[in-house]
Amino acid sequence: MRDQIPGSFATASDGVNPSQVPTRTLYTGAKIPAIGLGTFGSDRFSGEAIAQAVVGAAEVGYRHFDCAAVYGNEQLIGESIQVIMQGGIRREELWITSKLWNDKHAEQDVIPACMQSLEDHGLDYLDLYLIHWPFPNYHAPGVDVTSRDANAQPYIHENYMKTWRQMEKLVEMGLVRHIGTSNMTIPKLKLLLRDARIRPACNQMELHPHFQQPELFNFCIEHELVPIGFSPIGSPNRPQRDRSHDDTAAIEDPVIAKIAKRLGVHPAVVCVKWAIQRGQVPIPFSVKREQYLANLRCAVTEPLTDDEMRDIARIDRNCRLIKGQVFLWKEGQPWEDLWDPTGEITPA
Ligand SMILES: NC(=O)c1ccc[n+]([C@@H]2O[C@H](COP(=O)([O-])OP(=O)(O)OC[C@H]3O[C@@H](n4cnc5c(N)ncnc54)[C@H](OP(=O)(O)O)[C@@H]3O)[C@@H](O)[C@H]2O)c1
Repeated sequence: MRDQIPGSFATASDGVNPSQVPTRTLYTGAKIPAIGLGTFGSDRFSGEAIAQAVVGAAEVGYRHFDCAAVYGNEQLIGESIQVIMQGGIRREELWITSKLWNDKHAEQDVIPACMQSLEDHGLDYLDLYLIHWPFPNYHAPGVDVTSRDANAQPYIHENYMKTWRQMEKLVEMGLVRHIGTSNMTIPKLKLLLRDARIRPACNQMELHPHFQQPELFNFCIEHELVPIGFSPIGSPNRPQRDRSHDDTAAIEDPVIAKIAKRLGVHPAVVCVKWAIQRGQVPIPFSVKREQYLANLRCAVTEPLTDDEMRDIARIDRNCRLIKGQVFLWKEGQPWEDLWDPTGEITPA
């Protein structure tokens, strides 16, 4: 049976007052809620179930939703957004992010792709529009990690800037309030910051206690780029294609487990709480009410102690989970090439 998107919206009595949820200030002065709901179902949940969770999450106090065209559910989420707004939540109280997929980097495709996301959401502007990956390399949904795009390319800054100029146009057209990046590295961001007319406001990056990316995190803070942390719980149920034998799990870490025990919460909640307190914006995914409510609630409860924050800083394992193998451009290439491990952009 199709999961039903609720027809009406009602503020939950056990929810969190959205005005108490912390915010981060972007360089424009706009404020982004310090936690959002992820909407990528990892092939496990239907678009309807996710759209239903969007209404439920708004009812318990979420105002920030992280979406993307490639998640294939923006139209359904759009129905939820309409329900939420008809329920009395004003557009300016919401923060809606979407992302440009890799097959829409060509100059003529960027504006139509954004307009499609707007139409699907039933909105006349997005708060944030990100280039999802810095490569125009396409792969069909759900393919194996060994799959490659026959036309795959390395990062070509000149081409990325052509895409960026269209992103800038979206701001000038009033269709998008902020533009940003995702899955970038320091050398790529340096070039973009040098050449952008409209600077990126946020960088979305994998961030959890076992993958803290301190250098990139600090670079973002220094350059007024708000870091948005994806897979903040370590994506425990990510698809098989995103699993490797040496991956570690933050929620199984004894340091996280000990803090969870003290607080009487699931270790996942400790990961989210740490993320907010460190200064990134986590976007945990869940369609389960008790989970997404617990994740939001921890944003407004007593902070972790300084010792706990220090202990978590020490458990970084540099364990990247979303390696991006399908975006590689050469046979037999190590996935690390996507992430510029030498500090220079990996050449063709
Ligand atoms: N920019 C990018 O390239 C990129 C890449 C990946 C993700 N993202 C974004 O980031 C979002 C989040 O990442 P993610 O979905 O990979 O992983 P995640 O948020 O780290 O993990 C989500 C899973 O954690 C479990 N969970 C959530 N809250 C919990 C709680 N309170 N207690 C216990 N378990 C809990 C749930 O598992 P169960 O469902 O099994 O209960 C849920 O499916 C995505 O939805 C998407 O919006 C962006």
